[in-house]
Amino acid sequence: MDSVTKRYPDGTVAVDRLSLDIPDRSITVLVGPSGCGKTTTLRMINRMVEPSEGTILLDGRDIMRQPVNTLRRSMGYVIQNAGLFQHRTIIDNIATVPRLLGWGKEKARERARELMGRVGLDASLAKRYPYQLSGGQQQRVGVARALAADPPVLLMDEPFSAVDPVVRKGLQDELLRIQEELGKTIVFVTHDIDEAVKLGTMVAVMRTGGRLAQFAPPAELLSEPADEFVEDFLGADRGIRRLSFFPSAGLELVTAPVVATDSTAEQIAARDTPDAPYLLVTSPDGKPLGWSEPRNLTAGEIDPAQLLSYGRPFVAGTDSLRAALDCAVLSPTGWAVAVDADGRVAGVVSQQTIAEAIRGAHKESTSEAKALR
Ligand SMILES: Nc1ncnc2c1ncn2[C@@H]1O[C@H](COP(=O)(O)OP(=O)(O)O)[C@@H](O)[C@H]1O
Ligand SMILES: [Mg+2]
Repeated sequence: MDSVTKRYPDGTVAVDRLSLDIPDRSITVLVGPSGCGKTTTLRMINRMVEPSEGTILLDGRDIMRQPVNTLRRSMGYVIQNAGLFQHRTIIDNIATVPRLLGWGKEKARERARELMGRVGLDASLAKRYPYQLSGGQQQRVGVARALAADPPVLLMDEPFSAVDPVVRKGLQDELLRIQEELGKTIVFVTHDIDEAVKLGTMVAVMRTGGRLAQFAPPAELLSEPADEFVEDFLGADRGIRRLSFFPSAGLELVTAPVVATDSTAEQIAARDTPDAPYLLVTSPDGKPLGWSEPRNLTAGEIDPAQLLSYGRPFVAGTDSLRAALDCAVLSPTGWAVAVDADGRVAGVVSQQTIAEAIRGAHKESTSEAKALR
């Protein structure tokens, strides 16, 4: 989008000289307060709204110079509340575009069934009508319908804003999973900054008046908001949220304070490490059971019911520093438990070690950002 402006007939400037280079095969999120011109921007991309000034190029070609039907066929469109045809079954809703493109009924339905699986809808829902589905399920149908003709571009306008937080998280995870498989060019509109940071490869923050405030990857947005508006919009806990982008892989895990229920009193006594006041007890196959003071363990057989909760472990390497810190903060001992992909204890790590890793990661990312300039 090159210096695109939209002035509605009543004089409202909804979008003001917006320039954006939207990368292909990734998710670009437009985020900003209500009325800042997100929907208008999205609709200019498929020409439901025509720009007043500026140009929009798709793969280098001016969208105003191609037939509007061809253009729209290359773009799936998903809106809030899914916008399904109420008098059509789920399967026929999804098959809508292939049917319009002249596919035979059976082929279109077959494609629709395949897509139901892809978006996590049970095949048994095929013959139902939209009102017989939950909000989250309807939204999945909306996504499946948009994908039906396999368009390279997907435009999504607040698609998950009307569902409750738990369902919403599921839909977001599902979208990320589908995107990993399909690699579409997605432009996703939301007013929710957390959703933007979670989904976006690039995030465009817009301000009222249809101006671009900042266009950056989420980690950069959180570390270096361009101005006060962006900073306010990101909210108070942006420092913590930023930790989601730092991997836990570099954390030094220690195994000295880890013992198994079948350890002998001598082995436990030998594990009495001065910097770790508690020992983590595991089952013989390495699953975490709970924390205990060493002296409570050397008395005889270990009673798992007497142990302090180990809280929620994080997956070493896979989870972020944010997850590791969260585990440590919630742990009754201040130590986080790291597990491998099979849930076996990989080691434990103290709040202090995590804090040092955070400082290191901050330093590294700041000098990286400087080097990029
Ligand atoms: N058809 C229209 N005619 C006049 N003004 C409009 C029209 N559509 C939207 N607007 C105005 O343009 C601005 C941007 O709207 P919109 O793109 O819907 O914002 P958002 O999606 O960010 O909430 C708002 O001030 C809105 O009232
Ligand atoms: Mg809108």
